[in-house]
Amino acid sequence: MSDETNETTGAGPERVIGTPPPVKSGALPTPGGGEAEVFKPGAELDERKAKKAERIVALCFLLAFAASVGFMVYFIGWSGRNGGMHGLERARESNLWLGGLMTLSFLAMGVGVTLWMRRLMTSVPIEQARYDMATDDDVRSSLAADIKQGALDSGLGKRPLLRRTLLLAAAPLGLAPLFLLRDLGPLPEKRLRHTYWAKAVAKAKAAGKPGVRLVVDSGPEASAPLKAADFNTPGGMITVLPEGIYDLGHDALTQIAKASTILINIEPDKIKPIKGQENWTVNGIIAYSKICTHVGCPAALYEQTTHHILCPCHQSTFDATDGAKVIFGPAARPLPQLPLAVDEEGYLIATGDFPEPIGPSYWERG
Ligand code: FES
Repeated sequence: MSDETNETTGAGPERVIGTPPPVKSGALPTPGGGEAEVFKPGAELDERKAKKAERIVALCFLLAFAASVGFMVYFIGWSGRNGGMHGLERARESNLWLGGLMTLSFLAMGVGVTLWMRRLMTSVPIEQARYDMATDDDVRSSLAADIKQGALDSGLGKRPLLRRTLLLAAAPLGLAPLFLLRDLGPLPEKRLRHTYWAKAVAKAKAAGKPGVRLVVDSGPEASAPLKAADFNTPGGMITVLPEGIYDLGHDALTQIAKASTILINIEPDKIKPIKGQENWTVNGIIAYSKICTHVGCPAALYEQTTHHILCPCHQSTFDATDGAKVIFGPAARPLPQLPLAVDEEGYLIATGDFPEPIGPSYWERG
């Protein structure tokens, strides 16, 4: 479409994406409304060398684009196969490839832009004096003129190869936030509502048992089922887990972290009955989640004279005799209690999961 036609119809000249509007000669507006003489950008460049530099810069941009695409392809292909991105080895592998490709993309882009400026743009000394903070109209006009001059000097209009490869290289970067969001992993949905106790109890009940046995989590008795008679001294506290949790393979650590439970022996007459949970203790043995309801540290300190459970991170204190209610500190709710019983052989068992989600309150209730 010719300029003549545009004048008639009032429409602008036909534009191609990535093409800046046409620039009038080399003249720039001045504050007085006139036009100032400017140098012809790139006039002093050796066009043969400039062409060579242009190709190198374009190659850099293409390399940046290829690395970005490689990043996306690896991310999508790798995270969807062989168990996704779980596990230490997989995390290391992904860090190496994703980090390497992203670095290559930024590096190639940076080298391209640097070469562009050094080899294809005019080197003119720029001076700037100190002014008052508020700029006057002259300075603003001068800035606008400098920007226009810079646009001319960059060759954006004159070198479509560079312009388009630069846009191509930059385009995948706009998608980066999507990958960062995807990297947060799937939504937890209902998984935070339950611990492995729920699954273990269901499995035990399916096998005709009244519940799952508690096993000691460390020490010489580690992973051995615990009899009520073996934990009969008031004042004691140990950490227990559901039987079978160590057989979960690569998922065991995650499940252990969520299912950790403290078992405390308190004189039975000291325990205040909680409505609906009156039968959840066995001769003064009571079980609470070990995960602090503030931000999830292990609430692993127990003071037997006061029956206080203390979280060392921010000093939340829970009353073990009163449903682990918060009596001090930033935690907002009690430690959830685990329903206990004994089986016919005298082993301590859990008859259900914690009645509410364990851990920090911001997980909320699903
Ligand atoms: S995590 Fe327990 S008090 Fe903060």
